[in-house]
Amino acid sequence: MLILLDTANFEAITRMYDLFPYDGVTTNPTILKNEKNDPMKQLLRIWEFLPAGSALHAQVISVTAEEMVEEAHYMVKRLGEGLYVKVPVSAQGLKAISILSKEGIHVTATAIYTPMQAFMAAKAGAKFTAPYVNRIDNMGADGVKAAMDIHDMLRMHKLDSDVLAASFKNSQQILELCRHGIGSVTAAPDVLEALIRHPATDHAITAFNNDFAEAFGKNKTMLELYEI
Ligand code: G3P
Repeated sequence: MLILLDTANFEAITRMYDLFPYDGVTTNPTILKNEKNDPMKQLLRIWEFLPAGSALHAQVISVTAEEMVEEAHYMVKRLGEGLYVKVPVSAQGLKAISILSKEGIHVTATAIYTPMQAFMAAKAGAKFTAPYVNRIDNMGADGVKAAMDIHDMLRMHKLDSDVLAASFKNSQQILELCRHGIGSVTAAPDVLEALIRHPATDHAITAFNNDFAEAFGKNKTMLELYEI
């Protein structure tokens, strides 16, 4: 399962990439607004930092298909052909997805609240479909199940598209999708950090290190012992 960071905060991206094996960064207009920087400059800064093989997803703002296509062309020109252009699944968006996909531009269909929106986007050629798991939950439906249904439908109908589940508020939602074999998820840094945090692990590390210090001296590591 690919795991991407859903943020445009450069400090968070560099800090998290230093620690964890991520696969890329996703952004949306609201995420870019939070950085209070020129959005294209911010995306370029992120893109230049990301290791080879990472993905960057950035969203168009236009609302008509023609304008979305023009905007996507500009974004690819500035950010490179590896960019995944996020296009919302409005009727105009689906038209834009068809046009861009036929041109060979990578498209991530976004703002997905129902499995059929994802299905149509995949038929139009989107490489990723992004259901908003937590937002779906907040509307009284089941976001995890919607993402699983999309995953199953794409496979059942042999569509060349994968789920990029987005909008998470807790690590349990991600765990359930990982168990189901979902292709990729993107989440905010705090949610991703919670994936590996466990007080029992911290306790175990402290107990091990206290035992070692008691036996071999305070603040000693294998390195110092080797040198003795
Ligand atoms: O990038 C879109 C999606 O991740 C939105 O998440 O947390 O605003 O519901 P959220």
